[in-house]
Amino acid sequence: MRRVVQISDLHFGNNDVSLLAPLRQAILTLEPHVLVISGDLVEHATDVEFIQARDFLATLPGPQMVVPGNHDLPFYNFFERAVMGLSRYKKFIHSDTSPEYRDDEIFIVGANTSRVWPIRGGSLSSTQLKRLEAQFSAVPEELVRMLVTHHPFDLPEGQQSRLIVGHARKSIAALAPFVDVLMAGHIHLSSSGSTAARYKTQGHALAFVQAGTCVSNRNKGENNSFNFMRVGDGLNGEKAVVVERYSWDKQQRVFRKQDSEEYQLGKAGWARCEANKEAEVVTATPTEAP
Ligand SMILES: [Fe+2]
Ligand SMILES: [Fe+2]
Repeated sequence: MRRVVQISDLHFGNNDVSLLAPLRQAILTLEPHVLVISGDLVEHATDVEFIQARDFLATLPGPQMVVPGNHDLPFYNFFERAVMGLSRYKKFIHSDTSPEYRDDEIFIVGANTSRVWPIRGGSLSSTQLKRLEAQFSAVPEELVRMLVTHHPFDLPEGQQSRLIVGHARKSIAALAPFVDVLMAGHIHLSSSGSTAARYKTQGHALAFVQAGTCVSNRNKGENNSFNFMRVGDGLNGEKAVVVERYSWDKQQRVFRKQDSEEYQLGKAGWARCEANKEAEVVTATPTEAP
């Protein structure tokens, strides 16, 4: 199985720099085959913030799959946002906002869902959808095919569903035959689930994995966290993804495994494997809401 680490929403310019070294250490210990960074690298999209983000990413292992978030365009100055767009992101982080990673077991594609307007919401264009369909349908079905975006396509019932990416139902319908797992960030809360509940796409339900914010101060009532996934063939040869959430332990000052959930591909699509659900009680003090 492949080891994938997903970090998200670093928000350099509004982050806790004391978490950077522990996060780096945790990631290095997990020895990922690929590191996914699902957007909002910076807070205001200034040169200084992007240089800080770039220099931090340079200390992390690769290959790295980065997609931009809505804060990676100038966020608090709409004129600058409209004029600059993602130019600083492309200058300091990566010129390609649609990166790909492929090996013998997994295929990951990134897509940019961030727009000048709306400043918080996002979407995929018809052109992007067609390109994604072509990219995913061109690789063998045996690979676990994963899409990473900043904005989520699905969330657990009742959890800030207004923050789901625009036209998500249309995108899910188009992508479900070709994609296994959706990875996203943006809402600063971690979760995972199956799209079957919201989209009723029996047979083509996808697994979705949300990363919390790994080092920012913009906590939404949850400790800083990141995701570690083991992706590939399960015990019976079916596709499987084990999602482990690593959460910041304030007392021990380390990121440590908090809980784990497994998803498998069956006849009805991707579904949570309840039998293997595992959870630990964390001793960390809950983070106050901002
Ligand atoms: Fe964010
Ligand atoms: Fe965001």
